[in-house]
Amino acid sequence: MRTSDVKRSFGNKVTWDTPFEEHFLNFVNEVNGCVFSNGKDKNKALNLDFFDIKGKFDLVYIDTPYISQESVGVDYLEFYHFLEGIVNYPKWKDMIDYRSKHRRIKHNKPVWCDKNKIHTAFNKLFKKFQNAVIVVSYRSDGIPSIENLTGILEKYKPIVREARYESYKYVLSNNNSEECLLVGLDENG
Ligand SMILES: C[S@@+](CC[C@H](N)C(=O)[O-])C[C@H]1O[C@@H](n2cnc3c(N)ncnc32)[C@H](O)[C@@H]1O
Repeated sequence: MRTSDVKRSFGNKVTWDTPFEEHFLNFVNEVNGCVFSNGKDKNKALNLDFFDIKGKFDLVYIDTPYISQESVGVDYLEFYHFLEGIVNYPKWKDMIDYRSKHRRIKHNKPVWCDKNKIHTAFNKLFKKFQNAVIVVSYRSDGIPSIENLTGILEKYKPIVREARYESYKYVLSNNNSEECLLVGLDENG
């Protein structure tokens, strides 16, 4: 995929230098193994801002972008713009920010990457889905902290349980952060 012989300014060299075909064949079985039938005739996949989603849900799983302790947020339109572009292929060329070296997608800074706005964003998210069981993935070294996030979730759900998965390791991460799952429930489960 990366064919030009130029000086690179970002890491992950081994992955980038491996042919796409090899990556594809490595992962295709794993991905196909994730497909299962839930036995229902109708299933829906929506691509919307969470705030525009309508309807009632039994359970809402939330896996927002994450802000590290150093206040660096994962901005998907900046970091993973190729994927965001390819799924909007007909509009892609009008979405590109040509001022950026890596041709990111034009956008405003997301609330999930702003440590001054992320608490309010989680409040809005939990409030919107407070009638459902809420399951949130986050990391133990993030902003907000897990204690903080638990406090926000407790405003909307009477019972909050926490599970930690210590051995989960992100490909590009060097630190020892833990993957956490918070589950917000009602009294009757
Ligand atoms: C950590 S990733 C989720 C990864 C996913 N759970 C998985 O395992 O493949 C965070 C996702 O949140 C999406 N996102 C960011 N802001 C959003 C919003 N306001 N509404 C809905 N999705 C949003 C991003 O586009 C990104 O795909």
